[in-house]
Amino acid sequence: MAHVSDLIATDIEEYLSAHERKSLLRFITCGSVDDGKSTLIGRLLYDSKMIFEDQMTALESDSKKVGTQGGEIDFALLVDGLAAEREQGITIDVAYRFFSTEKRKFIVADTPGHEQYTRNMITGASTADVAVILIDARKGVLTQTRRHSYLVSLIGIRKVVLAINKMDLVNYDQGTFAHILGDYVDFAARIGLTDITAIPLSALKGVNMVERAAETPWYNGPSLMEYLETVETADAKRHSPFRMPVQWVNRPNLDFRGFSGQIASGEIRPGDAIRVQPSGRTSTVARIVTQDGDLKLAVAGQSVTLSLADEIDISRGDVISRNDAPAGIADQFEATLVWMADAPMLPGRPYLMKIGSKLVSASITEPKYKVHVNTLEHLAAKKLELNEIGIVNVALDQQIAFDPYEENATTGGFILIDRISNATVGAGMIHFALRRSENVHWQAVDVAKAQRAASKGQKPAILWFTGLSGAGKSTIANLVEKKLHAMGRHTYLLDGDNVRHGLNKDLGFTDTDRVENIRRVAEVSKLMVDAGLIVMVSFISPFRSERRMARELVEAGEFLEVFVDTPLAVAEQRDVKGLYKKARKGEIKNFTGIDSPYEPPENPEIRIDTTTQSVEQAADAIVKNLAEKGLI
Ligand code: ADX
Repeated sequence: MAHVSDLIATDIEEYLSAHERKSLLRFITCGSVDDGKSTLIGRLLYDSKMIFEDQMTALESDSKKVGTQGGEIDFALLVDGLAAEREQGITIDVAYRFFSTEKRKFIVADTPGHEQYTRNMITGASTADVAVILIDARKGVLTQTRRHSYLVSLIGIRKVVLAINKMDLVNYDQGTFAHILGDYVDFAARIGLTDITAIPLSALKGVNMVERAAETPWYNGPSLMEYLETVETADAKRHSPFRMPVQWVNRPNLDFRGFSGQIASGEIRPGDAIRVQPSGRTSTVARIVTQDGDLKLAVAGQSVTLSLADEIDISRGDVISRNDAPAGIADQFEATLVWMADAPMLPGRPYLMKIGSKLVSASITEPKYKVHVNTLEHLAAKKLELNEIGIVNVALDQQIAFDPYEENATTGGFILIDRISNATVGAGMIHFALRRSENVHWQAVDVAKAQRAASKGQKPAILWFTGLSGAGKSTIANLVEKKLHAMGRHTYLLDGDNVRHGLNKDLGFTDTDRVENIRRVAEVSKLMVDAGLIVMVSFISPFRSERRMARELVEAGEFLEVFVDTPLAVAEQRDVKGLYKKARKGEIKNFTGIDSPYEPPENPEIRIDTTTQSVEQAADAIVKNLAEKGLI
């Protein structure tokens, strides 16, 4: 490798140790191939000599064969090899490239620029200190420039290089440069970007890439490489209050208990008073332990193990803060949410939230509006589709320690995970806690579920009937209730059609409305269990995710899923209400089984096959099952 440093040849040990000590800058490039992005990255790699000899030879010969630069080296070919792979579907969501110079190491995140790649850009930007936004000098500030800048500001990058490229094609005209910069600065200020360094470039000709160029005598600023080598990076993190999300509790033997994690912000010394959040327990730091011995001081970015002066209960996911500057505690937030999955975000659906090292259950209670990424307009939203960005309220199932994202990206940034597929479906940034989360308390009552159930002489439970429309859910549930009632049990039947006449009168059959339909009836059935009743719920409830939510609202053993398994063809042939006929004719939209999905249960407690069992047999089987489980 023809690296700039001669040390490689003469003293490799010294080179490696110098290399280790170099600071690391992470940056993202935003723009499209047309703006010369590949050429720019290729040129940076080339100029830092991070190219193997054989790659160099191949580049020279490829440039002659397929290059667009009339026999001169076409730097874009270095980068576009990967871009082509990406187009062939070998998915590289974000391409990260590494290079280094005498002064610094660099990781550049290269993300595609089009609107359908918003999620990739957010991923690439999430760890970057600096964004290089490319502009074609002939075209000036475009819609995509604004979109890229908005996303960059959203993720909290404050340092922007406005790389005004292809200056050779406008004769290095100072006026053009000044005009573009003026345009950009006005817009950028509106989204909070003020630290902007504009550089007139020709990535192709190498103008202002490494050396300051003679072609732009009117320009006094740094070359791109000079800027990247000298720009100050996130020292701010070190000056924020101390936060360390606990990754794991380290207990190698009975004499030592330590809490390991990476310091997200601030610094800590032995003797400092800390607070564990959300529990609020306090102690002082006894030792800061690392592989290389104990430390007197540890700062943001370091991974350490803290041992404390007191034996207090701490688990993975807790946050250790400075006692005099703790994080906030809440279970409801307003946040910006970027949706990253093909399936839309549905309000009310439970997702897993990962924030710091903590996993909690979260649902979107209210999408307030979405932001049009090109115009920044606010639009009404009921759900969020892939690549859409919304401002939403989020509710968690427990309190967590947090900071606003603006103050701390680790304790204020989160991802949402689908509970069934385990895929990351969203990325979010906390704005603030909703005041109601601290102002609404749980009122303790003296008569509890156990007493209410005891006075009825029964164990409360939910029998959750799910299946297609016309599967026979309501008929069977009705007969089960009749039998239980005859046995002197206290029961209630919540039927989809009936509840939709009252409590859920405002809901239709879109996915969003069905999620809300089930959320409400699940909460109602939970109240009924609390009242000591045996509740039958008969709703299509087509989604696994919401059935699981209903299950998790009550105690283990209190929820029995009854899958009324009638094949679509059979339900359609029976067509008791004549709805399938209408749906086939297109008179009813979003009809389950026709143009709206049904996800059958994977492990129902009870499965009823209505093609072989009569209603009477089905009801008897269910009652028998309840008796076997000791519920009646
Ligand atoms: S759910 O999917 O949200 O759980 P729910 O059980 O409340 O549905 O309501 C289903 C009943 O509404 C069906 O039994 C049928 O009578 C009626 N219905 C009207 N339109 C539709 C539709 N598009 N899809 C399914 N059921 C519908």
